[in-house]
Formats: sequence, C-alpha cells, structure tokens
Amino acid sequence: MTAPQPPKPAARADRVSLWRYARLFRQDILSAQPARLYRAWMAEFRTPFFRSFLVNEPALVKRLLKDSPEDFPKSDRIAEGLKPLLGQSVFLTNGAEWKRQRRIIDPAFEGGRLKDTYPAMRAAAEAMVARLRNRQGQVEIEAEASHVAADVIFRTLFSIPIEHEVAAEVFHRFRDYQRSQPILNLAAFVRLPGWMPRFFRRGTRRNAAVIRELIAQLTDERMRAIHAGQAPDDLATKIMTTRDPETGGAFDAAEMVDQVAIFFLAGHETSASALAWALYLVALYPEWQEVLSEEAKALEDDSFAAVSKLRRSRDVFREALRLYPPVPMMVREAACPARFRNRDVPTGSQMVLSPWHLHRHERLWDNPDGFDPSRWETPNGKQCQRDAYIPFSAGPRVCPGAGFAMVEGALILSMILRHFRVRTVAGREPIPAAHLTVRSKNGIWLEIVER
Ligand code: HEM
Repeated sequence: MTAPQPPKPAARADRVSLWRYARLFRQDILSAQPARLYRAWMAEFRTPFFRSFLVNEPALVKRLLKDSPEDFPKSDRIAEGLKPLLGQSVFLTNGAEWKRQRRIIDPAFEGGRLKDTYPAMRAAAEAMVARLRNRQGQVEIEAEASHVAADVIFRTLFSIPIEHEVAAEVFHRFRDYQRSQPILNLAAFVRLPGWMPRFFRRGTRRNAAVIRELIAQLTDERMRAIHAGQAPDDLATKIMTTRDPETGGAFDAAEMVDQVAIFFLAGHETSASALAWALYLVALYPEWQEVLSEEAKALEDDSFAAVSKLRRSRDVFREALRLYPPVPMMVREAACPARFRNRDVPTGSQMVLSPWHLHRHERLWDNPDGFDPSRWETPNGKQCQRDAYIPFSAGPRVCPGAGFAMVEGALILSMILRHFRVRTVAGREPIPAAHLTVRSKNGIWLEIVER
C-alpha cells in the first residue's frame, strides 16, 4: 500500500475566462489557481480591470517583505471586509501609525514574557482535554480547535476563560462574522473603484458593532482595574500600560478595542486552523502520533521548561503550517514603479504573496506535497525554512504572535496526544479551502479515543 498523501485541492485548468475565474474565486481562492503556480517564480494576472502579480521566488518574497517593505505597504483591499470590525488595528494600518502601534504591542510578546503567559495556555489545554473526554467518538475537530484557541486568547489576554459570559459571546459572534466575511475576497485582488458601494452581507456591520461593544466592556473594566492597582499581570495589562518609547503615549480606550479585536481574530482563527490540520495529519500518519504521545510524557512537568522537550511536536506543527498555512495568501500594493524578473510592475499593482504555493513549490522543496516532519533536520528543509517558509510572514510586519503560537501549537497537540488516539473517519477526507484561514470544506472529522 502506498502511503496516504495529505489532502490538496484540485487546481483549475490552465486557461479559464475571467468570468469563470471570478466565479471560482468566490468559491475558494486555492482551487481557483492553476497548477503551474506550484512551479512558477512569478505570475501576472492582467485583466481589463486590474493587474496583479503573484510573487513566488524567494529573492522576490524577501524584497517585498524584508528589504523594501515600505515600497510595498499593506494593500487597503484587504481592509475592505475587515474595517467594520478592526477599525485602525495594527493589522490594517501602514507607515508611522503602524510603527507606533508595533512599538507598544511588541514588548508584550517578547521571548521572556512567554514564560509568564504559559500557565494560562496550559490551563486552556487542560480544559480541552476535559472537554474531549466527554466528547469521544467522531468529533468535528475544527470546532474544538477554535474553542481551545479562543480560550487561550481570553486567558492570556484578559485572564478569563472562554466560559466567561462576555468571552463566550465574543467567540460566537466572531464565528458568525467570519462566515459572512472571508478575509481575502475578490476585492483583495481587484481594484474596485472608490465610488462603488461596498456590500456587506446583512448583519455583518451590526455584528461587528456588537463585538466591539463587548470588547469595550472588557477594556473599560481593565482600565479601571489598572487605575485601582488591581489588574492581573496578563497581556492586556501589559499592552495597556506600555508607553511608546518615542512619544511616551499609550493606547487610548478606543485604540485598545481595535487591537484586542485583531489579537482575538488573528490569534485564534490561525492557531485553530493549524491545530486542526496537525491533528488530522497525525491521524493519517499514526506512527508520528506514537512518537508525539511518548514525547508528551514530558508534560508531567507542568513548568514552562517542559516545552523545550516537545521537539517532535514542534516539527509536526511546523509541517502542518507548511502544508496548510493558515494565512494562505497576503496582499501588498506597489507604492512606486518597480521591476521584477525583467517585468515592469506599475504603481498600484496588487502584489500577492502565497505561502500556500511557496510552501509546496516543486522547484524548492523535496517531496513538496508529502508529510515529513523530519525534513526540518535535512539540508533541504533547513534551506527552505530560511528561504521559502513564511507561515507567519517575515520582515518588520512579521506576526508578533509567532513565538506564542509555536508554544501554544506544540503544547496543545502534545497534550491531546498524551491522552487520546485520533483516527481518520472513512469517507470524510477533508478538502482544504480558504475561508478566513485555511479550513476544510466540510469540517475535519476525527475519531477520538482515550488512551
Ligand atoms: C499559527 C498561528 C498564527 C499564524 C499562522 C499567524 C500568521 C500571521 C501572518 C501570516 C501575519 C501577516 C499577515 C499579513 O501581513 O497580511 C500575521 C499578522 C499578525 N498576527 Fe499572527 N499568526 C498566528 C498567531 C497569532 C497570535 C497567537 C497572535 C496574537 C496573540 C497574532 C497576532 C497577529 C497580529 C497582531 C498581526 C498583525 C501584525 C502587523 O501587521 O504588523 N497572530 N499573523
């Protein structure tokens, strides 16, 4: 029997009409792309309405993200769907405003702080194990992964569990919001004229307003606790009390709502997606599951030191992030004319970076579509990790939560496998599709049995 391959969506035919492309796009951006993007260094999409370039060569990716990020700011196309929810959050801003926000946020995620955050993460992982004990049998694991990832965010940010009334409501409303508003829609690639009205599905704006009101309750309450000298030492307190080293200013209450909204959104959907895929992969490759389960005995030690022993778990999680990067594509905009691979890139071009394609590039990776967590020890894996692996983006706009997410991912994966066996469910192979993050079309089903 040949080894199973991790699921990959079928690519579209090489040539399709613009109309058909738009329709495919609306269904799912991954299967809307042709197979040649897994081999191309760059591709241009030229249509009567817009011009965009997909950049898929390590040197070009580096130029966009690391060498000249100011020439390629975040495209405001991406903001189209998210503005009502995220306001002026760090995810959407550019230039001086963005720099100021990062100066205040970054200290909360510095390496040393992870140790302080760890007990809250661990408590969320233990709560998940308790939930799964009651749920054994066939389980849709994406929903469970979202639950635990949201729990991690609330516990680390606000020291409250997901069962807290406000936290639970934010969680459920976010779920509805993301269903109604994919992070990357056609508008992210197509330059819509400014006069064209933007349509949000019914309820989207209302839902965003309610989420923001709920978050405001939490931040107002926290501000009062800070003033009273009674605030817990968590991420929210850290961010709300950090002063910009350049201006001395801190976030005001409204800004803090924007930032909390993005922490929640960026920090839970992404981790949940990666965790669900990692669990599916170990179900597909049970020999790895056994390796991780054995390694997870290190968690008998409940201190942060145990995390450094979860090396194989990190390799598996890293491989899940390679095969199913939660943020499959990112968009930037050329702020000035440029030349890429002897082609003119006019000002205003949409520059698409595709972790999805780069991570499976046939000319870069050994066994690009295969599951092989050992690859990270090989020369090819090490080289590709440096040049062609960007699940957290790269350069100054790199995900501030990357270190946090790697600890969280390995911890929860190990914690689950320490207590349970997971198996695939016949007839329910997941088909990857890009929603807000890379999800499966009909959920990811696993059979879960206590060890
Ligand atoms: C596996 C988990 C995660 C993945 C794969 C991930 C991935 C990413 C990526 C690719 C970006 C860049 C997006 C772009 O430039 O268009 C990003 C940005 C961001 N992420 Fe994460 N992320 C994860 C977890 C987290 C966590 C746990 C947090 C916070 C608690 C977080 C907070 C943010 C924020 C605030 C930004 C915006 C940064 C900026 O634009 O300067 N992420 N993330």
